[in-house]
Amino acid sequence: MSPISYRDMRNNKHQIKVLHTCQAFPCGEDEFILEAMVRAGCEPICYGCFGGGCGACKMKIVSGEYFPEKKMSRAHVTVQEQETGVVLICCVKPRGNIEIERVN
Ligand code: FES
Repeated sequence: MSPISYRDMRNNKHQIKVLHTCQAFPCGEDEFILEAMVRAGCEPICYGCFGGGCGACKMKIVSGEYFPEKKMSRAHVTVQEQETGVVLICCVKPRGNIEIERVN
């Protein structure tokens, strides 16, 4: 797990923790969580379109605030799922430190 650095804090970066792998990476408020995860070389999760359409990056936000910047396909994330924290991480940006985990 990598701690968030002073430089990251100055750049308004938040720490994203992946619970099932115990990995962590910084993500700015202006970037999507999936982009930061790929850049950090974090766990090789599945991803495809980077646009909320394929559903490959579906994960659950266990704690922390986020902003859904792009529309998520309702074929992959229902309203009920989203209410429990399930999102497509290519569509959301953090508003603070976040903990995420895989959705089966
Ligand atoms: S990468 Fe396709 S929905 Fe996120």
